[in-house]
Amino acid sequence: MSYQASTEEHPLTIIDIASLAPLVKARMDAGPFDYISGGAEDDWTMRENTRAFNTKQILPRVLQGIEHVDLTTNLWDIELSSPVIEAPTAAQGLAHARAEKAAAEGTAAAGSIFTIGTYGNTLIEDIAAAAPKAPQLFQLYMSKDDGFNRYILDRAVKAGAKAIVLTVDATVGGYREEDLLNHFQFPLPMPNLTAYHGSASGKGEGIAAIYAAAKQAIVPADIEKIKQMSDLPVIVKGIQASADAAVALGAGADGIWVSNHGGRQLDGGPASFAVLPEIAEAVQKRVPLIFDSGVLRGEHVFKALASGADLVAIGRPVLYGLNLGGAAGVESVFKHYQKELAITMQLAGARTIEEIKNTTLREL
Ligand SMILES: Cc1cc2nc3c(=O)[nH]c(=O)nc-3n(C[C@H](O)[C@H](O)[C@H](O)COP(=O)(O)O)c2cc1C
Repeated sequence: MSYQASTEEHPLTIIDIASLAPLVKARMDAGPFDYISGGAEDDWTMRENTRAFNTKQILPRVLQGIEHVDLTTNLWDIELSSPVIEAPTAAQGLAHARAEKAAAEGTAAAGSIFTIGTYGNTLIEDIAAAAPKAPQLFQLYMSKDDGFNRYILDRAVKAGAKAIVLTVDATVGGYREEDLLNHFQFPLPMPNLTAYHGSASGKGEGIAAIYAAAKQAIVPADIEKIKQMSDLPVIVKGIQASADAAVALGAGADGIWVSNHGGRQLDGGPASFAVLPEIAEAVQKRVPLIFDSGVLRGEHVFKALASGADLVAIGRPVLYGLNLGGAAGVESVFKHYQKELAITMQLAGARTIEEIKNTTLREL
């Protein structure tokens, strides 16, 4: 039987982002739900990602005469309605029948950036066409086969991608036990792979098999190689060590994306938020710094920006919004982060995103 994904299309009433996962769990099979929501091994790092935000505090500042706060910001010359953007996530067809097209539409409606993934269930061109005026990035899982790298980058460039996000923390899949217990295999093809390889790549395969076909031995010189192949800025995603940020910058990175893949890769590592300040210190504002993993609150967005991030990305919450409400659901998720961030800014006494970045958090 073919995979039956959600066809919901409506805005969501969201009280808090964490309450979305149980709603999705109640209506989705264990295989796809656990693939989306799960982490690696004991999920320790995944839990740490959100817990770590409690290790710093925002000191409320009053008497600041703030009437309205301004959430707008930018990535290079791309204007954004808020600093919250969409993190690349594979196989969005698990969450919704309109998959990446609906997610891209909802993200565009919220005035944010969508990141097209190599392992999506929709062709790059179709995602670009779903939100023709909106800024999009393209996330590359580099292949061992440079023919494929060239081919897919070409298509991303033609589709209007503003930058390439080179993911470097997934040279093998993390040890995700739920996927093994569920014998999880992707029920839908990954057409960006199929278009090159000519077979139904992705469908009927587990994530381990898909990662095995990608490049394991990624080196700093690959950053320059991808820049040359695409003639676009390259943002390196999956940085957790300040030393690696320095190496990536030395190798020509145009952006650093601090992430532990939402705790789906190496378990037993630090929370992404815990390493953000040291990476910001290494980067010294030379390039934009994007941060993700475990962000569930406007307050978390504020703390990440105050710790050196320029933009904050969300992964699973977008997929939950997509499942529960399609494009409108995704828009509701972004709007909810904006609402919480605006309240946090007002109460903390920060009028603009720049003022958040100049805020010092209080250590516990
Ligand atoms: C279901 C799922 C699929 C993902 N697929 C990709 C991917 O294809 N490429 C990538 O760079 N990151 C991928 N990620 C990681 C996200 O880009 C992001 O780093 C992570 O979800 C952030 O954590 P959060 O879910 O707590 O917001 C995936 C994450 C999830 C949950």
